[in-house]
Amino acid sequence: MMATKADATTKIFRVNPDQPEADYIEEAARVLRDGGLVAFPTETVYGLGANIYHPESIKRIYQVKGRPGDNPLIVHLYSIEQVLEVAETIPDSFRILADRFLPGPLTMILPKKQSVPAEVSAGLPTVAIRIPAHPVAFKLLAEAAIPVAAPSANLSGRPSPTLGSHVIDDLQGRIEVILDAGPTGVGVESTVLDLTGERPRILRPGGISLEMLREVLGDTVEAPETFDVERPLAPGMKYRHYAPNAPLLLFHGELPAVEEEIRKRLTSRVEEEKVAILTFTESELAKQELPANVILYSLGSKARPEEAAHNLFRYLRLCDQEGVERIYAVAPPRQGVGEAVYNRLRKAAGGNVVEI
Ligand code: TXA
Ligand code: MG
Repeated sequence: MMATKADATTKIFRVNPDQPEADYIEEAARVLRDGGLVAFPTETVYGLGANIYHPESIKRIYQVKGRPGDNPLIVHLYSIEQVLEVAETIPDSFRILADRFLPGPLTMILPKKQSVPAEVSAGLPTVAIRIPAHPVAFKLLAEAAIPVAAPSANLSGRPSPTLGSHVIDDLQGRIEVILDAGPTGVGVESTVLDLTGERPRILRPGGISLEMLREVLGDTVEAPETFDVERPLAPGMKYRHYAPNAPLLLFHGELPAVEEEIRKRLTSRVEEEKVAILTFTESELAKQELPANVILYSLGSKARPEEAAHNLFRYLRLCDQEGVERIYAVAPPRQGVGEAVYNRLRKAAGGNVVEI
């Protein structure tokens, strides 16, 4: 029985990201339908998929990831026509947003159909729905022709995977298939938007920004000031997340002042400690000579938060690979997808933010 096989050898298929090979897609879709676990690329991050109608396979997702059982999964679909298979009703706001943003990095919460197993939604009466834009995800979901529950394909607590190699590092030997299509695009996860309340409410900032949602729905869209670990909105937001091994300190303020502060801390540190600085191409520090124990990574331009979104998780994983012992990160401007980058950094910091 595939669904209970503990020591599965993982098949790794290198697929063309734009035109995935039909035989790989067919095999991966068959594995999904039969209850196996398949990691696949989406435009945000890689997902770890299972057939929603196999509760045992859904339980296995939690086991494989080491994911807390109260954290519900997003159901991935390939078309709007499939939505009523998993949701009780479709409000107008869903249709309006779907028209504009789907397929794309927006997940919407709707009332759940009874037929969706409780394991998928961790017992909640709602279901999270996402139609990803990546050609490999689309072909796989269309070929499998069943709704697929998929969290990010990382071990729980680690940075989400934006490369096939990240998935291989975390999950090889634990799942049946990995579709490796190279780097994902957006780089941070989808925006989670709750449509079951009075007003549409962002539970997790992501690939579709508050500004973009408000352009379509106006000011009715609610966005909490902070996505606090103490007051979680989406159940998954309460855990320490996206975290590299090294402690990360996040600095918020004007770039020159922030870098001045980081520079001070560098010189007061013992030489042996390996330090990484996550900053932007506009950095002054990048032009200065730094102690030999310090690595500087540029996430992209401060003016283009999409670049930092695309690179963030790769650099956080790189810090681990390089044996970095302490990370100082410069907060991005909290505009557009910059809000999602800020949110992930804040979580990686376990809430340790220094205001300058
Ligand atoms: O971009 C993405 O969304 C990626 C790709 C693979 O699609 N998936 C992803 O899944 O990030 P995951 O499981 O890592 O994060 C899902 C988030 C969690 O914070 C979870 O608590 C929330 O969505 N969520 C899922 N179902 C929910 C529900 N019914 N009500 C509230 N929050 C929900
Ligand atoms: Mg995740």
